[in-house]
Amino acid sequence: MPDAMAETRRDALARLVMWLAAVPPAAVASLIGVRFLQPPRRQRVIPVVAARAVELPRDAALQVEGILGHRLVLRRERDRILAFSTVCPHLGCMVTWQETAREFLCPCHAGRFDAAGLPVAGPVEAPLQRFPARQQGELIVVDLSTGEEG
Ligand code: FES
Repeated sequence: MPDAMAETRRDALARLVMWLAAVPPAAVASLIGVRFLQPPRRQRVIPVVAARAVELPRDAALQVEGILGHRLVLRRERDRILAFSTVCPHLGCMVTWQETAREFLCPCHAGRFDAAGLPVAGPVEAPLQRFPARQQGELIVVDLSTGEEG
């Protein structure tokens, strides 16, 4: 009889250890599963008036500040209006548009971006963030992303 009781205690202890070892991975797996079952979060887009159309003639650029905390460079290129964030994707310095060279320049590490915001020199690897922009009547409207909807 004592051997049978010892066997039972040993079995119970082994089951407890196995259960304790299985709980954390199961909890992590269930959290991951819940994340994939949720619908994907969408970017919240807020259209804002960034400038008056007369301020941005054809082939010109305009820097605008304080738009929902963004500093932007607007460029009118033929029929299109382009809106770029001035935050350098390298380490966050402020880029400026260089009209003569037709490129963006970051003063911190000499990062340069072409007219489309693509990196061309320096330590930068990612392009400048770009926002959809359009002319609506006499106004230039930019769709700013301000994080994710809940
Ligand atoms: S912060 Fe712009 S190149 Fe480094």
